[in-house]
Amino acid sequence: MKSYEPKEFWERRIDNGQGRLKSVGHLGYGDRVNQYIYQAKFNILKKLFSEISLFDKKVLDAGCGIGVFSQFYTNKKSIVVGIDISKNAVQYAKQKVPNAYFLVSKLDLSPFKDETFDIIHCFDVSYHIVDNKDWKESLTEFSRIIKKDGLLIILEGWRSKEVYNAAHVRFRSKDIYVSELENLGFQKIREHELYLILQTYRRLTKLFPKLSLKLESLFKFKIFKKIAKAKIIIFKKE
Ligand SMILES: C[S@@+](CC[C@H](N)C(=O)[O-])C[C@H]1O[C@@H](n2cnc3c(N)ncnc32)[C@H](O)[C@@H]1O
Repeated sequence: MKSYEPKEFWERRIDNGQGRLKSVGHLGYGDRVNQYIYQAKFNILKKLFSEISLFDKKVLDAGCGIGVFSQFYTNKKSIVVGIDISKNAVQYAKQKVPNAYFLVSKLDLSPFKDETFDIIHCFDVSYHIVDNKDWKESLTEFSRIIKKDGLLIILEGWRSKEVYNAAHVRFRSKDIYVSELENLGFQKIREHELYLILQTYRRLTKLFPKLSLKLESLFKFKIFKKIAKAKIIIFKKE
């Protein structure tokens, strides 16, 4: 396996993607599919926060990328801090969300005091922390800096067993993940499923690569947005 230097990897990837969604979403898909994927995630967040006010809530966007979700929370009048290892990503995030605070750093959360945040949002980041010690440390720190009853909202691969076959991606087993978080005082309170249509799309484009562009154009239809589902797990700090 190639070695993975997270900072270099993400600086290059964000730079190549010129701050477009694919630089933080799926590199292999075009803009429409990426918009569809992000829309699916937004739909779940909107549903969740239709019952919970975000006004004045302190939110950490851990691995904020180009600030797509930081913007979601600032639009809901939360106070948002985004942190990301990539300087390029943070530059785009600052332009997109001038009313949030951003830090360029790996997930070293030591500058934050205990029980600072009401919400920690961490989408598509933990599986890029391939070193197990760093990964555990990040969860321990989440537990320290979140308030009692705070929500940790994670989007992950949630595999049944560990998959580590690319240098920059290590999917841990869902059981290990959940038990690690339970030991740190989190309780799983909700779970939302994965993109059903996308899996079919991925299989079809592998089988028939030439179809890829035609399928991509299907994603302009609203029906795809409606049936999109993402696997997001929400934990509450006890
Ligand atoms: C797949 S992108 C997701 C970005 C954003 N959360 C989103 O959903 O749009 C992963 C992000 O995590 C950042 N990242 C990767 N490893 C990191 C680490 N150890 N500490 C902080 N950020 C990291 C990358 O720079 C990148 O912006």
